[in-house]
Amino acid sequence: METLVALCKRRGFIFQSSEIYGGINGFFDFGPLGAELKKNIRDCWWNDMVRRRDDIVGIETSIIMHPKVWEASGHVAGFTDPLVDCRVSKQRYRADQLFFAAVVVDGKTVGYVSALESERTVEALQEAAEVFKRKKAVQGKLEAVQARDMTEARPDEIALIPSPATGEPGSLTPPRSFNMMFQTNVGAMTDAASVAYLRPETAQGMFADFKSVVDTGRVKLPFGIAQIGKSFRNEITPRNFIFRSREFEQMEMEYFIHEDADWAKCHREWINWCKDWLVSIGLPESHLSEYNHPKEKLAFYSRGTTDIMFRYPFGVQELWGIAARGDYDLKQHEKHSGVPQAIFDEATKKKFVPHVIEPAVGVDRIFLAALCAGYAEEDVKDDKGNVEKRTVLRLSPRIAPVKVAILPLVKNKPDLVARAEELHSRLKRKYAVFYDESGAIGRRYRRQDEIGTPWCVTIDFETIEKDGSFTLRERDSMKQRRIQEAELFALLEEKVY
Ligand code: GAP
Repeated sequence: METLVALCKRRGFIFQSSEIYGGINGFFDFGPLGAELKKNIRDCWWNDMVRRRDDIVGIETSIIMHPKVWEASGHVAGFTDPLVDCRVSKQRYRADQLFFAAVVVDGKTVGYVSALESERTVEALQEAAEVFKRKKAVQGKLEAVQARDMTEARPDEIALIPSPATGEPGSLTPPRSFNMMFQTNVGAMTDAASVAYLRPETAQGMFADFKSVVDTGRVKLPFGIAQIGKSFRNEITPRNFIFRSREFEQMEMEYFIHEDADWAKCHREWINWCKDWLVSIGLPESHLSEYNHPKEKLAFYSRGTTDIMFRYPFGVQELWGIAARGDYDLKQHEKHSGVPQAIFDEATKKKFVPHVIEPAVGVDRIFLAALCAGYAEEDVKDDKGNVEKRTVLRLSPRIAPVKVAILPLVKNKPDLVARAEELHSRLKRKYAVFYDESGAIGRRYRRQDEIGTPWCVTIDFETIEKDGSFTLRERDSMKQRRIQEAELFALLEEKVY
């Protein structure tokens, strides 16, 4: 991750927000290459999800909505994480990410140890227990630790569990609920009546506008409403770079189905669609897996939720959640707004509230997954046969920030440069391309490898003296071949869609 974070900064993919003021935790800026990559992810999703389907329409709703939306959706009452404070260090922890264990020697509890959630939480607790036993010079056999998180701590245990910040017990508070919605005030008054929230998800925009879309969009069940937009969550512990941040972007789609439809089949179809789509933008299938939320942990209205997981360097984590939410959301809005949400079924001549399947994904998580899976360092031979390191980002041409780099072999031959500029201006009408005439050609190739450019074209003497063809160099194989301009356009047309 450190190497990747450094690359992102060095090459202008991602910067810490407000860095000149020391940064602000959980917020990020996307630099020139990052903005292109992000836009490509959004565009691919929008094209595949909305434009290339006949059953889905796209909308764009406001970030600040009527506060009653969030009462109806349950976010005001229940969008909380359990929070634990350390009174001494002033550090805050998510209780379900702060683990502890009793140190049990010869069947007797002699103290407690704690560790923050990681890939090796249990091992860390076991090591801490061994250190504890040694330091306190306790004789006897140490038992294997039983890890629990702070939401499971009994009141009498809380005072005995050491804070991860200080290593000492006595400073941790009992867990309390912390609402993750950012609050603001609308209008000049800052009283209770003016309180509003930055949306914590884009989904409620689709539910709140359901009737407007039905009344105006000539949609027929089953159909979906999709949107892409920013969401905000005051995460207690933003972490893993852009994986969990406080301002992020979601791509969500609500797929409305008949109340009697086979929801499980539809749910499965959407899980498959999402997986195939991730592969289509270059994520390796081998890094993807599924996690089915256990029935007992689902919200009462939920029929099933499956997460598509991705193998990040910091562990296998949620990338895309696909939830079967029944008719809960529309019914809640019907109840709170007083506006009926039922639609008329021509077949049965009855009115009913549709059910919904919701695939919800974060653009930033896809961005990070693409970088993690695509990053490689390789030993390659230069022109003289010397081994050198090349850093390469194997991004799919669909999402790569630059599709083609145009490289005139030399910069002091006006004919050659003119031909390169001509190609550049034709390509850039349709594609993100980059013109680079400085440095040795090998160095220029490396610069493009590092930012994930799938192809470089070199305009050389043959181009102007012979048949107009130029050298096409492929990023992944590093193979080179002669190609005509029409072939290059055909290649781009096929691979960048
Ligand atoms: N409407 C349902 C919903 O918002 P969610 O699982 O809370 O469900 C959906 O969020 C997706 O949004 C997640 O699978 C993840 O990709 C992304 N996401 C959620 N919280 C995030 C955060 N703090 N930072 C970045 N992405 C986040």
